[in-house]
Amino acid sequence: MIPRIRIVEAGAHVGQEVRIAGWLYNLRKSGKIAFPQLRDGSGIIQGVAVKAEVPEELFESLRSLTQESSIILQGKIRAEERAAGGYEMDVTGLEIIQRVSEEDPYPITPKEHGPDFLLNHRHLWLRSRRQHAIARVRHEVIRATRDFFDSNGFILMDTPIFTPAACEGTSTLFEVDYFEDQKVYLSQSGQLYNEANAMAQGKVYCFGPTFRAEKSKTRRHLTEFWMVEPEMAYATLDEVKVLAEDMLCFIVDRVLNNRQAELKVLERDVSKLERIRKPFARMHYDEAVTLLQGKGSEIVWGGDFGGTDETLLTEDQPGPLIVDNFPTEIKAFYFQPVDGRPECALGMDVLAPEGYGEIIGGGQRIHDLDLLLKRLDEHNLPREAFDWYTDLRKYGSVPHAGFGMGIERCVTWMCGLEHLRETIAYPRMIYRTRP
Ligand code: 4AD
Ligand code: MG
Repeated sequence: MIPRIRIVEAGAHVGQEVRIAGWLYNLRKSGKIAFPQLRDGSGIIQGVAVKAEVPEELFESLRSLTQESSIILQGKIRAEERAAGGYEMDVTGLEIIQRVSEEDPYPITPKEHGPDFLLNHRHLWLRSRRQHAIARVRHEVIRATRDFFDSNGFILMDTPIFTPAACEGTSTLFEVDYFEDQKVYLSQSGQLYNEANAMAQGKVYCFGPTFRAEKSKTRRHLTEFWMVEPEMAYATLDEVKVLAEDMLCFIVDRVLNNRQAELKVLERDVSKLERIRKPFARMHYDEAVTLLQGKGSEIVWGGDFGGTDETLLTEDQPGPLIVDNFPTEIKAFYFQPVDGRPECALGMDVLAPEGYGEIIGGGQRIHDLDLLLKRLDEHNLPREAFDWYTDLRKYGSVPHAGFGMGIERCVTWMCGLEHLRETIAYPRMIYRTRP
């Protein structure tokens, strides 16, 4: 019986006859020789079939294979220095599982396609080499993130998607019809529930899909994205800054250690990731505004940063930059004010280097009941919807803090991409909900 292996295992089978099940990625051929490239998800391997050395029938069916036909190739593995993966296969057999018809060929060809065409064929585009690499970096980022929290005493407690109230302002809520004329909203953040969970477990995190009805059509916004959010009881803003640094260094390290091949496919300049070190630079909002004005930005004190501002702020930084003490006015209702400067909030944004902008937002939460009630009123948020949340300030309230990181923003930075839509398998944007 000839063993079936995955391409990634080829190195352990040099000199052996094996079978590999996959799809025809590419085919180079002449009258005398055929080089079918097979991909199986774990890698790509080139087969070699010389007409004079294989049965006529085998050579002809190899030669007439069509792109992305599903096939099982049989052959002997040979080490080959010049091959990308280090191995080639001398083909001895072929089983065709499904042949893609010439009349309706695979739509994504090696030629250039526009982004709209590719996004419309996202279900197929995922097979392309770059997309395959990005998905693997994403997986690494997620795995590293989970490992980081799991090995640092955090308990995973997932938070609901259907929620009765806003967390991050009412302008980006998706409303859903619920039973008996009730309205619920898709979660904008698990934070409020995280706060309750942190009072039960001390340190928790949630990690799930997050929804924002963002009108902004930018390369940094999706309407559905994945966010990881840690929350700690008895913690201050300074402690979550350190947590964010440790987490990001851990993620960068894992990606560099485990995903070199993918970063190479993506032509990522890894030296930019290798120089990420903690502690990260820190900057007060006041200072950031002055710096930006000096660089010609139109920002005035009290305003939020635009994408260009974030890029300007980080252009001279080798690593991430933590900006803190944002104006209370532009922040969500739950931020604890700075002692002695209530117009500033104990919040932070972590800006990625190389112009990737905000990847983390977080801060210290109001723990005083009266102040929290006042803020709910100021933000026109109905107290009834938040009664459970205000309970947390009645029954053993403590200072607490946390943050949220958008996985797609982090992966965009790791991979060095232009647009974050490539970092999620099926991006959801204002004008895109298919496939
Ligand atoms: O800064 P944000 O809005 O913070 C929160 O939601 C807090 N409740 C988190 C917390 O403290 N537990 O969002 C956090 C992060 C951003 O820094 C960004 O990485 C990502 O979520 N994010 C988005 N990613 C993609 N598309 C969008 N529309 C995003 N909005 C936020
Ligand atoms: Mg933010």
